[in-house]
Amino acid sequence: MKFFIDTANLEEIKEANDLGVLDGVTTNPSLMAKEGITGTDNIMKHYVAICNIVDGDVSAEVIATDYEGIIREGMILAELHENIVVKVPMIKDGIKALKYFSERGVRTNCTLVFSAGQALLAAKAGATYVSPFLGRLDDISADGLALIEEIRLIYDNYGYETQILAASIRHAMHIVDCAKIGADVATCPLKPILQLLNHPLTDSGLAQFLADYKKGNS
Ligand code: E4P
Repeated sequence: MKFFIDTANLEEIKEANDLGVLDGVTTNPSLMAKEGITGTDNIMKHYVAICNIVDGDVSAEVIATDYEGIIREGMILAELHENIVVKVPMIKDGIKALKYFSERGVRTNCTLVFSAGQALLAAKAGATYVSPFLGRLDDISADGLALIEEIRLIYDNYGYETQILAASIRHAMHIVDCAKIGADVATCPLKPILQLLNHPLTDSGLAQFLADYKKGNS
């Protein structure tokens, strides 16, 4: 399973990249705003800065919601760097745009997916990635992991090559569950990735090993 980091914070991206386990980055307009990145020029420059840190796919989201606007913005984003993946919302014009991009070899990430039917449409339109938001479903007492399972089943039934990018991940167990289900990618903030490290028996075991070494070598 690939690990993407879901942030526009360059320090967090560097920290995750330094771990050596990072395969890409996802961003969205809210994450850009959180970092104070505003204005088209600054946003474009920020995408390039991210691409210069990580050797992997970087999702850059269009703002337009009409077909022509999505195509126009998407082509500009795709030209910024070879690692850019154009992120397109799950709307009618978005589906048409996904088809346009896939026919021209522009890679895409269909975002804001909350149902298996939406994921089926994204795959049929040729999306490179589909992003089901599991945390946001859990937040409203729906079953986010069940959706990932449904999408996995449908894609395997028909051999769709669209990769399942499990998004809106809230904690380490979400990552582990996504891996068990067979999601192709998990994207999340740095914290859940670092939470995977934690086990009290690792800490106590290491403390014991170091104490015993000290006893024998003092
Ligand atoms: C996916 O690409 C989105 O940026 C993201 O995972 C949304 O997560 P949130 O629900 O934590 O905002």
